[in-house]
Amino acid sequence: MKTVSTFQRLKDSGEKIAMLTAYDYSTAQVLDKAEIDAILVGDSLAMVVLGHENTYNITIDEMLIFIKAVARGAKNSFIIGDMPFMSYNLSVAQGLENAGKMIKAGANAVKLEGCNEHIITLVKRCTETGIPVLGHLGFTPQLMNTLGGHKIQGKTSDKIEAILDSAKKLQEAGCFGIVLELMPADSAQYITENLKIPTIGIGAGVNCSGQIVVIDDILGKFTDFTPKFVKKYTNLHDEILNGVLSYKNEVKNMVTQPRRKNKTGVKVKKSFTFQ
Ligand code: KIV
Repeated sequence: MKTVSTFQRLKDSGEKIAMLTAYDYSTAQVLDKAEIDAILVGDSLAMVVLGHENTYNITIDEMLIFIKAVARGAKNSFIIGDMPFMSYNLSVAQGLENAGKMIKAGANAVKLEGCNEHIITLVKRCTETGIPVLGHLGFTPQLMNTLGGHKIQGKTSDKIEAILDSAKKLQEAGCFGIVLELMPADSAQYITENLKIPTIGIGAGVNCSGQIVVIDDILGKFTDFTPKFVKKYTNLHDEILNGVLSYKNEVKNMVTQPRRKNKTGVKVKKSFTFQ
């Protein structure tokens, strides 16, 4: 059984932490079988599952549907629910209530983006209440408009120190780990080495304590765009397309059989066979 202490143990022992996103029951079953270290039900599902242009439009109620599906499929995995935009930004009470809904839906922890006084207080309150929190720094998609788009973060020493400062505050507040998104590998390494808790990189090089990616990206299922740092392990889009085309072709070539007679020679009225 994986718990928050599993991730600390993995960092301390030098073993890398392998996390992936999942959004549905059958994919969660596969990840469970593969004993992946943690499953994130990411708000990226707004894009790769629901077809939105960004992650802004997904609501807490929609996220809960996917968390429940993943929890039904992944009986032994550590599941992290991603708090969507504006589900924790209004007040600590709002954030705590919505984090609680994710836990009740089957998540073992929640993830929050950014770091300011409000987030620090919320992380403390969640942790005290029994809701483990994974932080998220560097490029934070929910702050895309203020960050000025998909930009690599932490490129100068000032910026790296600012991210490290935020990371230390999140660590102090009780986060069990921090996602570092889109930053140079050296910056992520420096931050990782100066924290006690593990870092989980996405587009942040190999020097983090672990890695996370969007499953639809690495399996080649989502094809609208693929981030540069993503390695594709298979091409599910083409495999599904080929399967669908074969099925379609087979159906189009089916020949209707003459109606069968039963043993008595009387025509069978309402029967059909499906082959
Ligand atoms: O929403 C998401 O999938 C994420 C990433 C860290 C993978 O936040």
